[in-house]
Amino acid sequence: MAEVVIVENSAAAGELVADEIARLIARRSDAVLGLATGSTPLPVYAALRNRLAGVDVSHVRGFALDEYVGIDPSHPESYRSVISREVVEPLGLTPSLIHVPNGAEDGIEHAGAEYDAKIRAAGGVDLQILGIGTDGHIGFNEPGSSFASRTRVKTLTVQTREDNARFFDSIDLVPMHCITQGLGTILEARHLVLLAYGEGKAQAVADAVEGPLTAFLPGSAIQLHPHATVVVDEAAASKLK
Ligand code: F6R
Repeated sequence: MAEVVIVENSAAAGELVADEIARLIARRSDAVLGLATGSTPLPVYAALRNRLAGVDVSHVRGFALDEYVGIDPSHPESYRSVISREVVEPLGLTPSLIHVPNGAEDGIEHAGAEYDAKIRAAGGVDLQILGIGTDGHIGFNEPGSSFASRTRVKTLTVQTREDNARFFDSIDLVPMHCITQGLGTILEARHLVLLAYGEGKAQAVADAVEGPLTAFLPGSAIQLHPHATVVVDEAAASKLK
């Protein structure tokens, strides 16, 4: 079962996880980080700015969880742009060592396998940061995703497009498809750290930690992992038994 840590607020969650990441980088200067986007990991990235000040991070490697399909990489809400803006630039990471799945439509049929091969060649992910969708998705593995799935193209649910419309001028501009690390890919990371805050995530957190293991609750896949930590505030923990 995942270890659940209840913290006061998202800032405290960010500090806790940033500490763990700083310790990892101190042990291994070329650590491989699994990077999530969305709002949840932002306090982690903010706390890391202080934690890593003065630390040589030039060898740190990273793999983003997912990317939209069919938006230009230079679009401000492409996950490539978000990872550059929120992680690579502020932390001073080496851009060529930080990877994001290729969401270009041209060659998309090979992009998943190529991404998995890159992760494998890097020796796997040491610590994977995860958020969770209100519908229980991790990465963009929407309900119905196989626990054995690899990086591939998926269709975003209406719920996820509505949730993410806040990043775009209108819901019609939210892409329909994404390329996401599969649940099987994510489960290969050596440490999973799932964060969630607020009542809106409480059911998804309860399903992930205590729900039945089923493809219809993709977050429940973390129960199969030998080292999964769930960092939540009181509200997100409120439906745990
Ligand atoms: C983002 C990702 C998604 C988000 C989830 C929660 O890379 O893979 O699973 O973590 O949609 O999004 P936020 O954090 O915006 O609530």
